[in-house]
Parts: sequence; structure tokens; C-alpha cells
Amino acid sequence: MAETATTKTNYATTAAAAATSAGSAEREKVVLAYSGGLDTSVMVKWLQTEKNLDVVAICGNVGQDAEDLAWVEKKALDMGAIYSKALDMREEYAEKILTKAIAANALYEDTYPLLSALSRPMIVEKLVQIAHETGAAYIAHGCTGKGNDQVRFESCIHALDPSLKILAPVREWDLLTREQEMDWAKRHGVPVPTTAAKPYSIDDNLWGRAIECGVLENPWNEPPADIWTMTAAPEDAPDAPEEIVVGFEQGKPVSLNGEAMDLLPLIVKLNEICGKHGYGRLDMIEDRVVGIKSHECYECPASLALINMHHALETLCLDAATLQFKHGIDQQWAKIVYDGLWFSQLKEALDAFCADTQKCVTGEVKAKLYKGSLTVIGRRSAYSLYEYGLATYGDGDTFDRTASKGFIDLHSLPSKTWSTKQGPAFRGGVAGEGLGSSREANDGDSAEGDPADVADVQGVAAEGGACEGKGDACESHEAAADKEHAAA
Ligand code: ARG
Repeated sequence: MAETATTKTNYATTAAAAATSAGSAEREKVVLAYSGGLDTSVMVKWLQTEKNLDVVAICGNVGQDAEDLAWVEKKALDMGAIYSKALDMREEYAEKILTKAIAANALYEDTYPLLSALSRPMIVEKLVQIAHETGAAYIAHGCTGKGNDQVRFESCIHALDPSLKILAPVREWDLLTREQEMDWAKRHGVPVPTTAAKPYSIDDNLWGRAIECGVLENPWNEPPADIWTMTAAPEDAPDAPEEIVVGFEQGKPVSLNGEAMDLLPLIVKLNEICGKHGYGRLDMIEDRVVGIKSHECYECPASLALINMHHALETLCLDAATLQFKHGIDQQWAKIVYDGLWFSQLKEALDAFCADTQKCVTGEVKAKLYKGSLTVIGRRSAYSLYEYGLATYGDGDTFDRTASKGFIDLHSLPSKTWSTKQGPAFRGGVAGEGLGSSREANDGDSAEGDPADVADVQGVAAEGGACEGKGDACESHEAAADKEHAAA
């Protein structure tokens, strides 16, 4: 952590100095989230020519495919950016962001581990910091106008510095097709890709890989084999299963197979092991913040493994009420992070709750990988709430069975009361009603007493009669009516 802070300071000073000496006095500056791809490359030029801005191009390395991003820095400079930097944010991403996602078992719509949603706040925090260091008035991003990422970028910027102005060129410019964009690029000296357009839209980082568009736009289409790069096809995965053991300390993964590891290398390693066994593929229909349903495919070997294994440890170390309550908190956490509200009051409060629950989530979880599946096969903790004496049916039983009867009597008291006043006993027993006793079962047979008919019955009873044949239940209604009269 201390190291990260130092890196930050050094970097910021460099950025400010470099950008200030290179920039022109009369032009304002924009910090651009730069990826090196066609859209943001056109943007480097477009922001200069169309908006008359000096461009500071920043590429955040959060663990995407490319190992060496030096070419990205150079490409932006070649197109006239006054400063360009590819920042290695992987460690900070793991430590500051992914640790929290694991603590919250973060899965949007109970499925998607939020890889894109988690990386944006990290990148935005850096862009805002650099905007401050360089005196930039603007931040620009390359998101389209239909997705979640624009919402995340901009909501995070607004939350960190409401005075910063935002430019979203893809939403604004009239380069609507790839051909128009390539044509503009050629005319303005922006290098154009020589390879054919990629058939999918990809976003990837340490926490997994998202694949959208192309043939996937038909949700009936099985994802083609060529979309997957991190995971083997389960049918081609090794025939022998492999066991893994992950150690956690206060909810954070700290070791793999007995070897202490920082989170970043642990995730990299797990992606490799789980991917080899074909584990981590998702194919889902997802609800975007902007109201669109979309067909998304993901491969998330390490993230899904860690979330599953972490949750398995929670089942051992958290009591039932906390576990059940936390499940709702986890879902809420995932939803607001998906929605771009990383920097928000609710998110901070939920983090505090999650952090408190992690105090004793320390121990080890063992899982077996086999042809596309991961199965938890063991868990242990010094703080385990599992008690052998209470659980065992064998020797050493410490559970007081005699206490059960009294417990059950009180536990079921509300049901008993309901049954005699309104439920099965009131209706004349369960005979012939079937398990799903309902209005329908009673319709045309109101003499058997439907709760919905109680008001009628009470009305009639108060008038003094016409409840023949209802036995005890009817008498109780009369008694109730008499009481009411007495009270009046
Ligand atoms: N649907 C996912 C999300 O909103 C993934 C987005 C991936 N972005 C991309 N440009 N392909 O979090």
C-alpha cells in the first residue's frame, strides 16, 4: 500500500511537469482514457482539431491481454498528444478494488463478477488525479452511448470532482460507421488497423474477459468456439481432476496451495489453472443500466473461483442470520457497482458492513476442478462455527434433544394460532384440500370457510344467525362479535 502511494506521487509530479512544459499556454487540456484502439486513436486527433484541446493520453493497465503497453504510449505521442503514459494499475486494482468485490461475493444478477464495472472506478480515480496535476479542465472517454461504461465513467468523475467537464466524442461525432471512422483517420494521419474489424467487442482485465456483439446479438446462438481465449473447452480439458486450496485472511485470499501469495499473482495463477480446466465460462442475458437487455459472454476463471470459495468459507464462519442478511447486502453491492455508483454513500456503508463481517473469515477452502466445473470439497477455519458435538449423529453428541420439544412448541405457535383462526384447522382440516389449499379449492364450498369469506361470516354473525353448520369455528366468530358489541 505504502509503495502504491509513493508510485502515485512520483507519477503525478512527472505527469504535471511533462504536460505543463509541453502544453501551449492558451489551449485547455483534456485527459483522455486511451486504449490504443481505433476509436480512442481517432479521438487523440479529433480532440485537437475539433475541440482545440491539448491531449494528455492515459492508458490504464488493469491486466488486459497486452503485456507491454509501451507502444500505446508512443502511438498517442506520435499523433500529437502532449503527454502519454501507460500506467500499471494491476496491483492497486487487486488490492483496493478486487479485495472488496471478494468480500461482497460480488455477482451482478447473481451471475456476472463485474469485471468491467470494477475496473472503471480505478481508472477514473487516476484520470481525475492526473487532471488535477496537469490542470486539465476536461476528461474524455471512448465509450459508446448505449452501454454501461459511459454511465460508470461519468458518474465516477462527477462524484470525485463535479467541476470537471466531460467529453464523450463517440456520442457526439458523426463518424457513425467503421468506414467513416477509417476515412476520417486516413485524412488526419491517424494510423488505421490493417487487419479486418474484430467481430466482437472485448473488454478484459485481471477479473476476466467480456465478449459482446457479432453473432452473439442473437441470444439463441451458441457462443462460437473462437470467442474464448482464457478457458479451454470443457470437453477438451484434462481428464484428471485437479485440487486447489485457497487460504483467506479476513476475507482476502492470501495463499494458493499452501504458498503465501499477494493477490495479484494469485489471481494470475488461478486464471491459468482454472482456465486450463475449462472453468469460468458464462453465457447470460444481462440488464444494462440504460434499460437494454443484452447477450453477454464472459470467461472469469479466477474471479468465479475466488467468489465461490470465499462464500464457502463464509458459510463456515458467519452465523445464519448474518449470512442470510449479507446475501441481500452482497446483491445490493453488486447492483450499485454495476450501476456506476462506486463512489457513493451507500457503497461506502455497504463496504463497512462487509468489512465487519470479514473479521473471522479466515481459513482455507479446498476445491476440485474438472472439465468445466469447480466443486468445493473442503473448508476449515480456526474461527469455524461448525461444532462437531452439536452436529454429530454418532458418539460425542452434545446437543440437548430434550430442549427441542419446547422449542418447537413456541416456534410453531404462530402457525398453530393461524391454523385454528383462519387456516387448515379453521377450514375443517386438510382432508381433500390438497397441499396448496387456496381460494380455488374452497370456491363453491364457502361453508368450509375461506379466510376471504370471514368478513361475510362476521357480518352475518353480528346480525344474529345464518352460520349453521359451521361448528366451533362459527361460535368463535359469534363470541368475537359479542365482545365487539360489549366493547362498544
Ligand atoms: N456488460 C458488461 C458490463 O457492462 C461488460 C461490458 C464490456 N465492455 C465492452 N466495451 N465490451 O459490465
